[in-house]
Amino acid sequence: MKLVQFAGAVIASALFTGAQAQQPASQSIVVKFSHVVADETPKGKGAIRFKELAEAKTKGRVKVEVYPNSQLYKDREELEALQLGAVQMLAPSVSKFGPLGVRKFEVFDLPYMFPDNKSLEHVVEGPVGTGLFKLLEPKGIVGLAYWFNGFKEFTANRPLRKLDDFKGMKIRIQSSKILEGEIKAFGAIPQVMAFSEVYTANTPSNKYTQKMHEVQKHMTLSDHGVVMYAVIVNKKFWDGLPADIRKALSEAMAEATKYVWDIARRENEDALAKIKAAKTTEVYVLPPAEKAAWRKAMLPLYREYEGVVGKDTLQAIEKTVAQSAVKK
Ligand code: LMR
Repeated sequence: MKLVQFAGAVIASALFTGAQAQQPASQSIVVKFSHVVADETPKGKGAIRFKELAEAKTKGRVKVEVYPNSQLYKDREELEALQLGAVQMLAPSVSKFGPLGVRKFEVFDLPYMFPDNKSLEHVVEGPVGTGLFKLLEPKGIVGLAYWFNGFKEFTANRPLRKLDDFKGMKIRIQSSKILEGEIKAFGAIPQVMAFSEVYTANTPSNKYTQKMHEVQKHMTLSDHGVVMYAVIVNKKFWDGLPADIRKALSEAMAEATKYVWDIARRENEDALAKIKAAKTTEVYVLPPAEKAAWRKAMLPLYREYEGVVGKDTLQAIEKTVAQSAVKK
């Protein structure tokens, strides 16, 4: 869709969105939920679960229309469409908020920052998670929840076993300055591209559902980063909802969020098993000593990007991760 047409369509929809939230109780309220991955992923299943719960809890007064796989909008377009009210809900990776001018979310992109799911859960449920959501409000966006997909693994058409193996490689990244710095620290060349356009270094569930294993011969289980989503809604739409509807949708979101965190690990384990069974990709588990060397090579990024994410945010996360290890 050409930008001119796109803008026209989006503005027309925006004029409608504000009105629809105030419409008489008899008519249903439509929530367009757009995302860029397949239905058979943690985020895809979470969106469907939210739809089921939201329609049940509002007794049909809310209709959720889920548009997966970039059907409606691609990466960059979807945030613009949400701000203009052409869609009401998204769940983008938190690596993609930089173009909105909210770079602090990129703290989740720091390599090897999180050792496990539990530490991530404690961070997003605490003051860091709520503080980051507050930064979205001036952009006309309300953060509703964090959905975790999993840990990222590298894929390529050559083995990636030592840092030197990355030299000169072009590697696709999401629109994140920290991911740009990370790939350069690996000695490779970062290229920002939309998820819909590439086979990408990502979680097994994203790789398998995008059939990446059919075109890339090598996968290294590096666990070098995370794919974390922020479920966000257009602020004008959300604030304009009747209070009882907003409460019901918040309850539906809370239940869908628990569901996504519960299934994410298994979804990625199952996807990895299917990739191995397909025998089209050689799967290499990075040995602990090599993982430690990669982590050491990434440490300078923490100081280099402290100004972007904030020393206070970094220290709060490091403290929460340490406490979470003790609670185990
Ligand atoms: C990516 O762009 O690699 C991922 O964020 C896609 C997604 O939404 O999981």
